[in-house]
Amino acid sequence: MKKVGIDDISIYVPPLYLDYKDFAEARHLDPAKLEHGLGVKQMAITDSDQDPACMAANACLRLLEKNDLKPSDIGRIYLATESSIDESKAMNSYVIGMLEQIYGDGSFSHCGGIECKFACVSGSYAIYDNTNWIRAMENDNKAAIVIVSDVAKYEMGSSGEYTQGAGALAMLIKEDPRIISFDPKVTSTVIRNEYDFYRPFARKTPIVNGQYSNLAYLIQVKKAMMEYERKSLESGLIKLGKDECVLDHIDLIAVHLPYAKMGKNALAYLLRHEWRNLSRWKEIISLIGMDEPKTTDNLGTIESILEDTEFMNKDKEFNKRFMETPHYKREFVNKLESSLIASSIIGNLYTGSLYMGFRSELEYEYKKGRDLAGLRVGFASYGSGASAMVFSGVISDEYKEVVKIMNLENEIGKRRRLSVEEYVHLHKDWRSIDEPIISKHNEFVLIKVGGSREGFREYIYSN
Ligand code: CAA
Repeated sequence: MKKVGIDDISIYVPPLYLDYKDFAEARHLDPAKLEHGLGVKQMAITDSDQDPACMAANACLRLLEKNDLKPSDIGRIYLATESSIDESKAMNSYVIGMLEQIYGDGSFSHCGGIECKFACVSGSYAIYDNTNWIRAMENDNKAAIVIVSDVAKYEMGSSGEYTQGAGALAMLIKEDPRIISFDPKVTSTVIRNEYDFYRPFARKTPIVNGQYSNLAYLIQVKKAMMEYERKSLESGLIKLGKDECVLDHIDLIAVHLPYAKMGKNALAYLLRHEWRNLSRWKEIISLIGMDEPKTTDNLGTIESILEDTEFMNKDKEFNKRFMETPHYKREFVNKLESSLIASSIIGNLYTGSLYMGFRSELEYEYKKGRDLAGLRVGFASYGSGASAMVFSGVISDEYKEVVKIMNLENEIGKRRRLSVEEYVHLHKDWRSIDEPIISKHNEFVLIKVGGSREGFREYIYSN
């Protein structure tokens, strides 16, 4: 089978951020809760002349320019988002319109593509579909671009407000990719009707059941992981030695990151599930000094588990001690830690957070001097509502060509720390489009919404 996967990644992060210390002071929160409890240090915030469509176009233009690609090299542009700006017109059509300001009217008219929606997991479905479009040789020798772009914006004063963020990534999906080739026939999905997080029509912020969403995430990802295990063992992709589990054969992990700490918690949850029946568990339990708690709840629903406060408190304590064991720490440092760096300074990117985590992991593992060629990366993607996807890929021998020039700080660019008052004005849309906090150069910006044509959005490339 053809090797297909991610050849390159470009990012766009808005030039404004809210610092956790300013935010904590304004909301009378202990800053340690944000920094250590959630792993949030800075949250990227969009300016008044920005939206998910222009961030997507900016990430895509950077990808095209960096790789010297012509429109004729590209056959599909997919855009995954949960920050839709129109109920009908797909966001990738806005992106095409912006790109054609640079490449010429009609230059992308041969392309296909859609806007995909399933909360944060939709970017992974878009990548999966485009990978298979190339494997099936439907692509006429062209590559696909998958863009993930979102503004994670929550109700002011809610607990979601400290897990905001914004940005876009554009990923080049092609044959013989320089970064990673996806493993065929092991991608695993689960789905169920959940109301953990949703945004009814016309609402600008979602309705969130925070603690419920955390547990829904963990359970769905674990279920997808179990399906991945079945497929990877049955297909022979992974062969277990004595007393081993599938995670022993995954060298790096990238998980959906609504906030950095969620990644740490997800790794702990998965490891506990995997290790419970292995001989190493006995030693771990003796280090933890307590038995793993079991819920007495018989219903087995997320609500009933959360309502079992005695179990929840004991489990929290057990998990805390588990995360202090050398066994967990070793897995965390080797497989996940570097992926959390970007999240802690950008915040939640919804569809993009998994891929920003992967991008972060590549750069910072490379900077540690670790040879990544041939390593297997496990991806765990979650979208509220709810669906999870677990899949894997192997880092290409040529990865250094791309990764050695990755520099998160440079690619984010110079940013301005917002005052809380400025942030509130932006959050409430009190600042008009033509009065942005920062004037932008060499990027697409929004210049008008509505006017004589209702809902019509106009963008220009600002020189
Ligand atoms: N110092 C250090 N740590 C502290 C602390 C302090 N002073 N105070 C609290 N903490 C710790 C807590 O112990 C807890 O740690 P654990 O994760 O180890 O248990 C952590 O800080 C968070 O504290 P709370 O659980 O009390 O936080 P909260 O209830 O106020 O809010 C949240 C957390 C529910 C995630 C909320 O921010 C939220 O609703 N966010 C939006 C929804 C979300 O992100 N859900 C994630 C799963 S769904 C998903 O992933 C899809 C998506 O993108 C939205």
